[in-house]
Amino acid sequence: MKAIRIHAFGGPEVMQLEEVERPVHGADEILVKMYATSVNPADYIIRQGGNDLLRPYLKLPLGLGLDAAGIVEEVGNDVKDFKKGDKVYGVPNFPGDGSYAEYLTAKASQFTLMPRNITFMEAGALPSCALIAWNGIVDLGRVEAGQRVLIHGAAGGVGNLAVQIAKAKGAYVIGTASPYNVDFLKQLGANEVLDYRDQQFDALLNNIDLVFNASPVRDHATRVKSADLLKEGGIFVCTQLDSPFSDELKDALARKNATGTHVGGGGLAYVSSLSETTRLIEEGKVKAVISKVYPLDQVSEAHRESETKHVRGKIVIKIREEN
Ligand SMILES: NC(=O)c1ccc[n+]([C@@H]2O[C@H](COP(=O)([O-])OP(=O)(O)OC[C@H]3O[C@@H](n4cnc5c(N)ncnc54)[C@H](OP(=O)(O)O)[C@@H]3O)[C@@H](O)[C@H]2O)c1
Repeated sequence: MKAIRIHAFGGPEVMQLEEVERPVHGADEILVKMYATSVNPADYIIRQGGNDLLRPYLKLPLGLGLDAAGIVEEVGNDVKDFKKGDKVYGVPNFPGDGSYAEYLTAKASQFTLMPRNITFMEAGALPSCALIAWNGIVDLGRVEAGQRVLIHGAAGGVGNLAVQIAKAKGAYVIGTASPYNVDFLKQLGANEVLDYRDQQFDALLNNIDLVFNASPVRDHATRVKSADLLKEGGIFVCTQLDSPFSDELKDALARKNATGTHVGGGGLAYVSSLSETTRLIEEGKVKAVISKVYPLDQVSEAHRESETKHVRGKIVIKIREEN
């Protein structure tokens, strides 16, 4: 089978499409015939050698890719939840050998059934971003109908799902984005969209219940200004796991008796979170946003585009044609 692997850390050119052995599943694992994956910032961060959190887990040669959507081809003896032929999606093996591959094996517990009303390409765009958006907005953010939610990086992979999930929960949603994404975000359900380049969001907003920072840019000043906008007892959730909160941010949160947490890296209910998003997708309240689809042999181009940090929604990698 074919898979993308790296033998050295570096730029997009280190990714090679190789012929490798098809993996063999264990008793609690499934073998998945892959149809689609997508590009996440973690993919190019790992390709470059990782950050302080990831580096200890990265051993070369390494397969890349977080997201997986495909069909169950074989099931281990202990697997009760899936059978051959099931369409599944999930985030397998992170941060080990990844999903840019024609087949993969992983624990069955890392997958859930795909929504019945979407394609493999759409499913490949969703799992890791949907998990983070759900964990951030619902589990940690404890969003309630009528609350005012500020989402930074609203047009990105995580951000667009956070907008949709917060909206589905009845919140008043304010996103930050470039001007070319204003109409797109309003169509997704955002009540207000602020241009983070030209508009001073901190001068225009107040009384925010929940800040969800889903920007791929680690910007200390934006964090502190956002914390200052929170209501007393508000919540600040940040996706940037590798970037700890500064004392200035902790002080700003303390002034509001606010809770500040990072989201990601496991720990929260995994498959149940993705299953909740699945339900919203099947109800037509959340959809996948795909900006472009690349074939597996053009994954380097896909990474270059993702590294601009201005992709709308997701870049999907097509591994097989779907019928
Ligand atoms: N913790 C986890 O497990 C986990 C999982 C997935 C992602 N993440 C993290 O979540 C963050 C977002 O990931 P992602 O996949 O959504 O990234 P992404 O899709 O690459 O984000 C792209 C978006 O970021 C926006 N953006 C760029 N600069 C911005 C700025 N200065 N202010 C506000 N928005 C800006 C762009 O909007 P415009 O084009 O409109 O400018 C673009 O739509 C990353 O930090 C990633 O590492 C964490």
